[in-house]
Amino acid sequence: MKIVKTKQEIGLLVENFKKSGKTIGFVPTMGALHKGHISLVEQAKANADIVIVSIFVNPTQFNDKNDLEKYPRQTAQDVEKLETAKADILFLPTENEMYPEPDNRQFDFGTLDKVMEGKFRPGHFNGVAQIVSKLFDMIQPDKAFFGLKDFQQYVIVKQLVAKYMQGTNIEIIACPIVREKNGLAMSSRNELLTSEQRQNAGFISEILNKYKNSAAKYSVAELKKEVIAEINSNDFLEVEYFEIVDDTELQKVENWNETNQKVGCIAVFCGKVRLIDNIYF
Ligand code: PAJ
Repeated sequence: MKIVKTKQEIGLLVENFKKSGKTIGFVPTMGALHKGHISLVEQAKANADIVIVSIFVNPTQFNDKNDLEKYPRQTAQDVEKLETAKADILFLPTENEMYPEPDNRQFDFGTLDKVMEGKFRPGHFNGVAQIVSKLFDMIQPDKAFFGLKDFQQYVIVKQLVAKYMQGTNIEIIACPIVREKNGLAMSSRNELLTSEQRQNAGFISEILNKYKNSAAKYSVAELKKEVIAEINSNDFLEVEYFEIVDDTELQKVENWNETNQKVGCIAVFCGKVRLIDNIYF
């Protein structure tokens, strides 16, 4: 695997791949890689000639400075995992490389970035759009792979390409959530949990699954209340929000008989660590 750190180097490589007619699959990450990330690399390997992975802890998407400082960084282990997964190129830029000057662009995603993560993490998705658009410009992927773990991010990145990157033809591919044995959605932030917290955090998906399977017994409003109360009954967990939304406009669903696909999206504090998860109803 080749490791490149500058815009110039990655630009030259990309130009050569394009010239020789190779398709590029791209997996953007913030590192501290786990099996969820690696599943994206595997999808990319299966669907493109060349796989480029980026690792960059993007400061503009952190609305909480403490969260940015605490974010796990483990590049040496990441490199090993990517070698094993047979990624072709790791793009590992510095902050100065990505933001030689401040990025003042403001993206308009309508209501998509005003709800859920957007409501509780103001500015987060604008920062995601800044970095993803810069990376897409540099890497010019044919296909880019995003995990459904960050469901709202996936929807917004699709909108970013449709609205702001017309003509690029980047295909955004959704990949399923990879979970730990106890059901906890894998996340770099899980590294920050104690083993007791990590064990208890499995309760989040356990409850989501339980209510998915008995949804017909409840109205949407009742089910939301029950899920929140039951998760909060675990001393280690505190729900920030739980919403059931349609999977394209992210508007709140009021009735089960609405025709669109419905996703339950949740954010839960486990101690000081904020975890997110979601489930299709
Ligand atoms: P990061 O949290 O590192 O996630 C990188 C990619 O891995 C995202 O597409 C995320 O949805 C996916 N992913 C994380 N955990 C997963 C899991 N358990 N199962 C499946 N996929 C999973 O998301 C970001 O970084 C950043 O916002 C980024 C897009 C890189 C922009 O900075």
